[in-house]
Amino acid sequence: MTPDPTRHSGKSVLVTGAASGIGLGIVDRFLSEGARVAGFDLHPTPRDTVLSLTGDATSEADMERALAAAVTAHGGIDIMVNNAGVIAVTPVAEMDFAEWRRVTETNLHSVFLGSRAAARAMIEQGRGGSIINAASGAARRGVPNLAHYCASKAAVVMFTQSLAIELAPHRIRANSYAPGHIETPFWGGIAEGFAKHWNKTPEEVIEGFRATVPWGRFGTPEDVAAAVSWLATPEAEYISGQAIAMNGAEFPY
Ligand SMILES: NC(=O)c1ccc[n+]([C@@H]2O[C@H](COP(=O)([O-])OP(=O)(O)OC[C@H]3O[C@@H](n4cnc5c(N)ncnc54)[C@H](O)[C@@H]3O)[C@@H](O)[C@H]2O)c1
Repeated sequence: MTPDPTRHSGKSVLVTGAASGIGLGIVDRFLSEGARVAGFDLHPTPRDTVLSLTGDATSEADMERALAAAVTAHGGIDIMVNNAGVIAVTPVAEMDFAEWRRVTETNLHSVFLGSRAAARAMIEQGRGGSIINAASGAARRGVPNLAHYCASKAAVVMFTQSLAIELAPHRIRANSYAPGHIETPFWGGIAEGFAKHWNKTPEEVIEGFRATVPWGRFGTPEDVAAAVSWLATPEAEYISGQAIAMNGAEFPY
């Protein structure tokens, strides 16, 4: 669908993990639909029209600072997208605690910190809002070598359901999105990781995953961004507490 340039006119959006892949796709989509967009990432968000905020989404102080900067610059916060995430490919028996912590803290703690900061500001504003969190198809299906990733994403789904119930009286919605295989820089590390464990080339690993997608291709950041944008519209007013999948018919979501 061609983006409607007025769809999110006047809305203030903060996207974490905005510098790459799906997050950057979400930034571009909201920009093309008239929103005022802030991007928060370890790296600058590479768009001139975005309020680029750098910091660590697992740091309470950094997240609070980012939210406050978006509120000040854009007159409040209407849509919060907690997208930052990392992955690593390691069997549990070989996994060190530092890697477990890095994956679960990045994928889950950042969602808590971003959701809490946004919820507080949205409650105070009293004009509702939408909080949208990155889950994954891996939230509903165990995957070998990704136990920490799967556990963190399943936790995001349940956190978001609970949050949705708490915030409903304030007309603040909370949903998560569950991408399948999306073509982003994320896959460089995944392909290399599985290649090492499966004695294949990274290209063979990618082709193997592609072959499991009934739609016949990896998804794009635009595929995810289109659904995230729609979730944030008033058309989705009665949708809260859900995990919405975009996966080319792959996962039984
Ligand atoms: N690509 C996929 O196939 C896929 C599938 C399912 C879910 N996801 C989820 O979608 C989200 C985005 O993934 P992507 O594929 O765009 O990955 P990506 O690696 O292309 O981008 C992730 C971004 O998050 C940022 N980031 C990481 N840790 C951070 C931190 N502590 N603080 C601030 N920023 C941080 C990185 O700098 C990067 O810009 C992630 O949560 C991921 O788990 C991706």
